[in-house]
Amino acid sequence: MTPLSETNEIALHSADGTEIAVTAAGDQRPDAPVLLLLHGFPLDSRMWIQQFAGLKGFRILAVDFRGFGRTTLAVEDYSLATLASDVETVRRHLAHDAKVHLCGLSMGGYVALQYWRQHGSSLASLLLCNTKPGADTAEARAARLTLAERVMESGSWESIRGMMSKLLAHKSPTGEAAAQQTAEMMKAASAEAVAAASRAMADRADFTDALSDIDIPTLALTGRADTLCPPDSTEQWAKRLRQGTFEIVEEAGHLSPIENPRVFNATVQRFLDSVVLD
Ligand code: MLT
Repeated sequence: MTPLSETNEIALHSADGTEIAVTAAGDQRPDAPVLLLLHGFPLDSRMWIQQFAGLKGFRILAVDFRGFGRTTLAVEDYSLATLASDVETVRRHLAHDAKVHLCGLSMGGYVALQYWRQHGSSLASLLLCNTKPGADTAEARAARLTLAERVMESGSWESIRGMMSKLLAHKSPTGEAAAQQTAEMMKAASAEAVAAASRAMADRADFTDALSDIDIPTLALTGRADTLCPPDSTEQWAKRLRQGTFEIVEEAGHLSPIENPRVFNATVQRFLDSVVLD
């Protein structure tokens, strides 16, 4: 596992009283390019621990979404547009208003696409990891709304523990450590946070047709063994991007930065360096 880098915990306040928590890591020079990291569901910014020291030459800002990690849930009903606005609050306050590189995994990818729609001119590049541009089918949407009710009745961990096997590959370089890291974050997720995020994801927009309008360098990456966002379908939607790069992380499932951090970091570093040097 990559050694931990020095981190700073920062809190910002949004207009509706939410305290947005951000972990700052990496290159702390004020002129270093900024990489914003958006976590998956039902995790938090600690999923990026292996990237904090593993990615070089960037000031890293890892955001906790509403209700997850140390970010509060001041208002229970929010949309992914609200989360994109929170990301913009982070960029304005902590990136000195500069263009940023935005990397989101799965739910973080949905928010990154929504951010592009709202604030695309603030992006230097987009990294869409283990995610997909489409909206939910009617069936998937109904399942999310059922989960939102179930977590409130039966408790969060009881309701979401079954997801573990879908998130992680059977075999990966970090194996048991990846499972422990993932379970720790999932156990920390409150029922209210899981319910609110499920409702927000159920109502998310479909970006499939918008992909061909994204005209910045964009990385579409997934794990070889990701059954939720498989390589074949990821390669198909990545072809619609104007400046797309498609990559597969071997020996990883849906949580490629946790499961195979060495290959994930090398792939992301190569992409970011090519964008920064261009
Ligand atoms: C995630 O990892 O963020 C989830 O798989 C997203 C989802 O439930 O669609």
